[in-house]
Amino acid sequence: MNDAPAPAGYYQRHIFFCVNQRANGEACCADHRAQAAFEHCKAQVKTLGLAGPGRVRVNKAGCLDRCAAGPVAVVYPEGVWYTYVDASDIDEIVQSHLKDGVVVERLLVPPGVGR
Ligand code: FES
Repeated sequence: MNDAPAPAGYYQRHIFFCVNQRANGEACCADHRAQAAFEHCKAQVKTLGLAGPGRVRVNKAGCLDRCAAGPVAVVYPEGVWYTYVDASDIDEIVQSHLKDGVVVERLLVPPGVGR
């Protein structure tokens, strides 16, 4: 055993978009264009050369149980929760947080908002 630091995670940052669709009329992220936001984010990350091991990964998720703030996405390892309205919001999350590590305060989900 040596004293080398633990290796970094496989990705530097990992963003998960809830794209859950509910059929029973309850609030869900899919009703707020979550799939389009996911696709836009994925394309932007790729275009900017941020995608891949040691960099950024964009994934879909099922319900993250914060539906009342939806649509939501969460960035790890920081565990920062975002909501968004349009593609420009996604662009800001990509540029500021995923690329530069600076949290986009104006898009944060308020603490305590759950399902
Ligand atoms: S449906 Fe998206 S967080 Fe629950």
